[in-house]
Amino acid sequence: MANSVVPRPFLKWAGGKTQLLDDLTAYLPRYFLTYHEPFVGGGALFFYLYRERKIRRAFIADLNAELIDTYIAIRDYVEDVIELLSEYSYDEKFYYNLRAQDPWKMPLPARAARMIYLNKTGYNGLYRVNKQGKFNVPFGRHKSPQYCDVENLRAVSVALQDVEIACASFETVLEHVKPGDLVYFDPPYAPMSSTANFTAYHADGFAEDDQIKLRDVCLELTRLGVNVMLSNSDVELIQALYDTDSCFNINRVHASRAINSNAKKRGKLTELIITNYPAEKIAQPRLLEAQVQFTTQSSQDRKAR
Ligand SMILES: C[S@@+](CC[C@H](N)C(=O)[O-])C[C@H]1O[C@@H](n2cnc3c(N)ncnc32)[C@H](O)[C@@H]1O
Repeated sequence: MANSVVPRPFLKWAGGKTQLLDDLTAYLPRYFLTYHEPFVGGGALFFYLYRERKIRRAFIADLNAELIDTYIAIRDYVEDVIELLSEYSYDEKFYYNLRAQDPWKMPLPARAARMIYLNKTGYNGLYRVNKQGKFNVPFGRHKSPQYCDVENLRAVSVALQDVEIACASFETVLEHVKPGDLVYFDPPYAPMSSTANFTAYHADGFAEDDQIKLRDVCLELTRLGVNVMLSNSDVELIQALYDTDSCFNINRVHASRAINSNAKKRGKLTELIITNYPAEKIAQPRLLEAQVQFTTQSSQDRKAR
């Protein structure tokens, strides 16, 4: 059955923000010019803002080349993607045959159709590749997976028509921002567990050094007069990075993570939504009392001033 709320994310993506939309929208600035989302993933906030007619111009990017090619294929060749998907069947043999094909030897629309099909019919809707970069999620048993949602794919294509789409690392956002723009950063989250080997390497390839570089990009954007909103896990590293003498507001919200391989760990967790704009610029100030109060020396000093 087609869902009437379109366009919406066309892939299920680890860390997807559909669950956090109410909180994110409460912390958006009232006005902004171009919207930038450098870790776009499934694009939950981008599609929400498009549906709400809050996007004038947009720039979306991600380091995942297959994901970005899928966005570009839907923007430029949606009817070809739909035609291919409508010919695919939901059965195990077809799944493993398609999974075995090398996406980089396929034409762009076929590569996109393969990604959408595997994402919707694979186990738990995860995108996961092995060390050789090959998609290795097993076949999933779903009731009736919606891998050819024509209405949504066409609506996504319309939404993407004037959007600049790039396969790039997050810091390249600095090359095309202007004062008054909004950048929403949703990076791979800093791990919750202190046992995770985070400093040297993180499963998503996003290590502590990257979190530091991202904070520095946020500081530079602040200097340039760009609005920044960022979500991340509620852990000491992130609290400390943004508890600087600059103007970051750190807000704690409750959200349930959509994807966790261990079903028992799927529960209520707190997350941080960090903004660099003052309270009076926030669209819906009703949640401001939820701001986190830190007890570190620098924040106490700031309060004393
Ligand atoms: C938490 S997910 C984003 C989820 C997204 N907000 C959604 O609603 O689906 C993080 C994304 O960052 C991407 N990524 C990882 N390292 C990156 C980097 N250095 N620059 C840009 N994107 C990166 C991953 O490919 C992934 O899609």
